[in-house]
Amino acid sequence: MIEQIKITDPQVYEAIKKELQRQRETAELIASENFVSPAVLQAAGSWLTNKYSEGYPDKRYYGGNEFIDVTEKLAIERAKKLFDAEHANVQPHAGSQANMEAYFALLELKDKILGMSLDHGGHLTHGSKVNFSGKFYNFTSYGVDKETGRIDMDEVRKIALREKPKLILAGYSAYSRNLDFREFRKIADEVNAYLMADVAHFAGMIAARKHMMPFPHCDVVTTTTHKTLRGPRGAIILCQKEDRLKEIYHKDSKKNLAGMIDSAVFPGMQGGPLEHVIAAKAVAFGEALKPEFKTYIEQVLKNAKVLAEELMGYGFKLVSDGTDNHLVLVDLTNKGVTGKEAETALDKAGITCNKNMVPFDTRGPFDPSGIRLGTPALTTRGFKESDIREVASAINKVISNIKDEAIKKMVRQDIAELCKKHPLYPEVKL
Ligand SMILES: Cc1ncc(COP(=O)(O)O)c(C=O)c1O
Repeated sequence: MIEQIKITDPQVYEAIKKELQRQRETAELIASENFVSPAVLQAAGSWLTNKYSEGYPDKRYYGGNEFIDVTEKLAIERAKKLFDAEHANVQPHAGSQANMEAYFALLELKDKILGMSLDHGGHLTHGSKVNFSGKFYNFTSYGVDKETGRIDMDEVRKIALREKPKLILAGYSAYSRNLDFREFRKIADEVNAYLMADVAHFAGMIAARKHMMPFPHCDVVTTTTHKTLRGPRGAIILCQKEDRLKEIYHKDSKKNLAGMIDSAVFPGMQGGPLEHVIAAKAVAFGEALKPEFKTYIEQVLKNAKVLAEELMGYGFKLVSDGTDNHLVLVDLTNKGVTGKEAETALDKAGITCNKNMVPFDTRGPFDPSGIRLGTPALTTRGFKESDIREVASAINKVISNIKDEAIKKMVRQDIAELCKKHPLYPEVKL
């Protein structure tokens, strides 16, 4: 697959080769990562990268797009089917761009958005002061309840009635419970707000019908394509065709909601779409429509439950005391270890994860109190419950002996052995 690079650019080849070795030999527990299929890899690495295709299928600014239109239309149709959506735009380069484009379509600068607080599990694009979202829009936030670690919908309603946002945002990067879009919509209706869901983390569960469907409750849904959805790095925006609040907010616009979203993506925010990635999205969506994908997501969920139970058995405190989805958020305070210490130690032991703030954290984002763990990537390579029990035991060993280098070395060997049982890209010989 990468034979040419070996000949023309040995330095880049070496790094790509080593990265595959790293992925093969370590346990990937970053909740936002996954391993795409060889078919998705091939589409993303194809000559479609050569093509300029500004515009949309059958309405391009460049010639020669007859085959590009085929792949983009396939991606659109499959995305609509996966999410029961009336309209899909498959061009956003990444999740952050998708959110920027959705805000740009619906709002004026400085309009008010109510989203999940970053330190309770929201994403940078949900209002961080150092992100475009916090600079261009007026964010206000809801969080989780201190006792339960769950979003309290009465509290969301109270804040919405007080703040009167023009858009309510449901979605998270680090929250382990399902969302009730019906409840969010009731609140949105009370204050004449748009309801947008950023389902980046749990798109796979929606596609597999293992989470409440966001439509018809939401106006707009954004998602990355590379997390539980197991596609190439990128994003999509899905929406209803009609602008439900047109008479209130967009009286003078000639566009419906779908038209507003498309214009915000191009020419509003992006130039030429990444058609090689869009083809890879089409392939991944095709895979997600198959029954095997449902089985995969069921296993992701089973594995996450086992990971949560095992860790709690070892005395770890989980935010919300468990999980409904693919991730667990571990509060390490009772273990006397910080998130950064845990991330570094686990990395040395061949277990990859990320440090993470926990709700009501007394520490800062560079060395917070928690770590976030997820099962999508390990499940793709075939890890089942018994393997996850071994991973949980390894995590416990490392964190309970945080300063012991010999234990890290031993665990690294054990993890490498476990990974060998579930080979990654066995067809690739380097
Ligand atoms: C909820 C959510 N939205 C948006 C994004 C941004 O996606 P990207 O990294 O592709 O810009 C992420 C990424 O982690 C996310 O978790």
